[in-house]
Amino acid sequence: MDKIVVRGGKSLHGNVTISGAKNAALPVLTAALLTEETCTFSNIPDLVDIKTTYKLLRNMGVQIEGNSTIQISAEKITNSEAPYDLVKTMRASILVLGPLVARMGKARVSLPGGCAIGARPVNLHIKALQDMGASVELHGGYIEAKADRLKGADIYFDLPTVTGTENIMMAAVLADGTTVLNNAAREPEIVNLAEVLRGMGAKISGAGTDVITITGVTSLKAADASIIPDRIEAGTFMIAAGITNGEINILGCNSQHLEALINKLRDTGMTIAPIDGGLKVSAGPKIHSVDVKTIPYPGFPTDLQAQIMAYMAIGSGLSVITETVFENRFMHVSELIRMGADITIQGGSAIVRGVPTLYGAQIMATDLRASASLILAALVAEGTTEISRIYHIDRGYEGIEKKLSALGADIKRVKQ
Ligand code: EPZ
Repeated sequence: MDKIVVRGGKSLHGNVTISGAKNAALPVLTAALLTEETCTFSNIPDLVDIKTTYKLLRNMGVQIEGNSTIQISAEKITNSEAPYDLVKTMRASILVLGPLVARMGKARVSLPGGCAIGARPVNLHIKALQDMGASVELHGGYIEAKADRLKGADIYFDLPTVTGTENIMMAAVLADGTTVLNNAAREPEIVNLAEVLRGMGAKISGAGTDVITITGVTSLKAADASIIPDRIEAGTFMIAAGITNGEINILGCNSQHLEALINKLRDTGMTIAPIDGGLKVSAGPKIHSVDVKTIPYPGFPTDLQAQIMAYMAIGSGLSVITETVFENRFMHVSELIRMGADITIQGGSAIVRGVPTLYGAQIMATDLRASASLILAALVAEGTTEISRIYHIDRGYEGIEKKLSALGADIKRVKQ
């Protein structure tokens, strides 16, 4: 397995261009299952999770050609199954469930199982499909769903589930009648998906709010659409500027998707100013410690919690970081402590007492965003840090060590 080796202490300066958003691309790719026509999607990031989705879709008979711009055709779906060996590597595979039941009237999708950051059930996805008239049974670790034609329904999500909202929006576009999603998630990736579906002829209103209304149609046509920039990648590089006492132009990002982070980073003393095509992000004269609480969009994103914790580890005071979305998203804490951070966990909160210096160490990545947190800590640590199991980071960051090297970091990938 490869590892990343970082010699810390370099301030980052220069331009970085943000790639297409992983969490926008995944549902847009599965939306192609809803039509027999060939869709064209651009700004697709080059990520392991995208390649896994291609494997999953090709396994169903879908044709996919291209790289950052692709042609994808689900004219013939030869099987409606998402097998365990693929789903276990990427739980977002659950996003084929809604489109397959809508298009084919059936689906057999492996239950994703838990992952490092939590149990991550899909009960809300299943209940919503049942509300729409699907028969859904669990057999041998698989979800087996059937419906001649889904019926529009009034759905209430107990939690604003992101992929749940996406899955049921895709199920509803071909249903008989109108579906209303109440307590829907409001992420920009959901707005991107709704725009793509509307481009295919779907009737959807309210995406981006907590009530989304979908009126079913009988068929959908091809879409030609672009993936929005990755707000989590952008946020990660913004924090990189702060933690390394540098200044970075973040190009191709959409600052409207980052308001919670921008406000929080300004509170730490950073300067964040709009420039042509993005944001100029500069470190402050000192790092003020701030409290952070993760909540569903438009609140502070859980996917940036590990990254801001690395930054607060060298803050000037005490920072309380509370994770409310996932039950076990502090896997990065023990690794940061090994680098000299002073962090104690109390229930769902991490108490971070800033220290003057972190020290390089041999550490291990445990999940995608924890990996980013460890790289950020390594960039500022004294000495050399070796991060193993970096296959986690390749799932969600396109060429991160190349982008960081271009900004002046001393970082390289070492083949094991
Ligand atoms: C999406 O995951 C993202 N993944 C996650 O990004 C992100 O952290 C998460 O939303 C929250 O923003 C993709 O978009 C592919 P949820 P998702 O359903 O949809 C509970 C990354 O690093 N829940 O919004 O799986 C669940 O356990 C990844 O890019 C149920 O209880 O998250 C969690 O506590 C990590 N039952 C909460 O809701 C359900 O049926 C939010 O989960 C569904 C969810």
